[in-house]
Amino acid sequence: MGRFYATTPIYYVNDAPHIGHAYTTVTGDALCRWRRLQGDEVFYLTGTDEHGLKMLRAAEAQGISPKELADRNSARFRQAWDELAIDYDQFIRTSEARHYQAVQRFLQAVYDNGDIELRTYEGLYCVACEAYYAEAEVVAVEGQELGNCPVHGRPLEVLTEENYFFLLSRYQERLLDWYGRNPGAVYPETRRNEVLAFIKGGLQDISMSRSSFRWGVPLPWDERHVAWVWFDALPNYISAAGYGDDPDFFQRWWPPAYHLVGKDIIRFHAVYWPAMLMSAGLEPPRCVAAHGWLLVGGEKMSKTSLNQIAPADLVAEFGVDGFRYHFLRDSSFGPDGDFSYEGMVNRYNADLANQLGNLFSRVATVVARKCGGTGSRPQSGSPLQQAAAEAVAGATAGWAKPAPSEALEATWKLVREANAYLEANEPWKAEPGPALDSVLGDALEALRIVSLLAWPAIPAAASEIWRRLGLPGAPADQRLPEAASWGGYPGGLQVEKGQALFPRLSV
Ligand code: MSP
Repeated sequence: MGRFYATTPIYYVNDAPHIGHAYTTVTGDALCRWRRLQGDEVFYLTGTDEHGLKMLRAAEAQGISPKELADRNSARFRQAWDELAIDYDQFIRTSEARHYQAVQRFLQAVYDNGDIELRTYEGLYCVACEAYYAEAEVVAVEGQELGNCPVHGRPLEVLTEENYFFLLSRYQERLLDWYGRNPGAVYPETRRNEVLAFIKGGLQDISMSRSSFRWGVPLPWDERHVAWVWFDALPNYISAAGYGDDPDFFQRWWPPAYHLVGKDIIRFHAVYWPAMLMSAGLEPPRCVAAHGWLLVGGEKMSKTSLNQIAPADLVAEFGVDGFRYHFLRDSSFGPDGDFSYEGMVNRYNADLANQLGNLFSRVATVVARKCGGTGSRPQSGSPLQQAAAEAVAGATAGWAKPAPSEALEATWKLVREANAYLEANEPWKAEPGPALDSVLGDALEALRIVSLLAWPAIPAAASEIWRRLGLPGAPADQRLPEAASWGGYPGGLQVEKGQALFPRLSV
């Protein structure tokens, strides 16, 4: 048994939750559920990023205080995660006292280590990124004096400030050394190469404080400044783990197994953050896992392109499990993926309605009609036994990578094979007797194993299948790999057919 600490980015509260945020959060939730099934002690963290100039301006535009904006929108994220069955252990808000305490303690440690210095700075700033850009990174626009932000495509502003600087340039060698010794510390490989190329290209010191506004965490050694929002946001991962107020808890959980992030924020997580941690004498995260963007009509979802899709709208149509399954199965972790409504309907119908839903209802129907509703035991040496073992191995490898789509592909291979087995044996035509019992027992056992393996992705349906099979407890209480070994369905249980698990949808 191990410990597994995983995090999502903390989401900016100037925005409403959309399916891009949900994608990261569902992925993390499924990975954590898989670890729980394996008996690991899990700490899953998510939360909201509430400080900075962007929030201040968004609040001003709405005529409310930044705290009010944060309270309102942070609650929307919590609600969205409840609607998606996200089983997080903590929800951190950067406006919390414990977070202030942790950030101040952390930054003081970096300062005491001599890695922070006061300088005057004039630079091209993107308010949406809350970051300065070097001339070389700016996108030139004809007829516009200052170019655009390379991420947001919006005009940059000139900002002059007396700022504290984090001496990132000192960490170039140490970071390269760290990544040399920890080849799995950035996933996937393409992102690792990008990070290494960026570090090798030479690291600039970075401005880490702002003095033109107060909405942030004051620097403990100079209260005229607040920490730059990224130097306040990244430490959420340590403040929730008890860095400021609970050293024993911190000791148990640090460092995390995964920071799950979108590719847009990899530099912050895989370059700035490990350097900051090293400076404060803490270990970097074991792995920063970066996925691509979900695109809508070929573009990244954003407030400005008005192409955002709210998770609740899709949940209303596909159900929580339908939503979760689609994003886990159809977006391979790494590259960008285009969201398509038809794609989602097709996947739902193919895998959930026609395969898993159908497998369950066929078996339950025959058990009700021919066996008085009592399920029989599987045979040892069943033709499905090998398929089940392969599904367990494939799912284990897929979740470990992490590649949820591969884990689910391996799981659904067993579903398809169980359906094919029924078609080959046609139990609906067979007379009651031992031969029929064996076929049904095998199919019931395949369903039991599938409900375990699929539980991280579709927790509600998997638990419901478990219950309808007449099994005691729930998938959540089971331990892999033992619970998934062939022969666990005891037979003699009442099987309940119930309503369709996944009613078919039309496009
Ligand atoms: N607040 C910072 C993160 C600080 S973490 C210490 C931030 N917030 S964000 O709300 O703008 O975006 C956070 C994350 O949401 C992205 O990195 C990504 O994980 C996810 N996504 C936002 N839009 C997305 C898509 N269109 N597609 C996939 N993920 C996206 O950056």
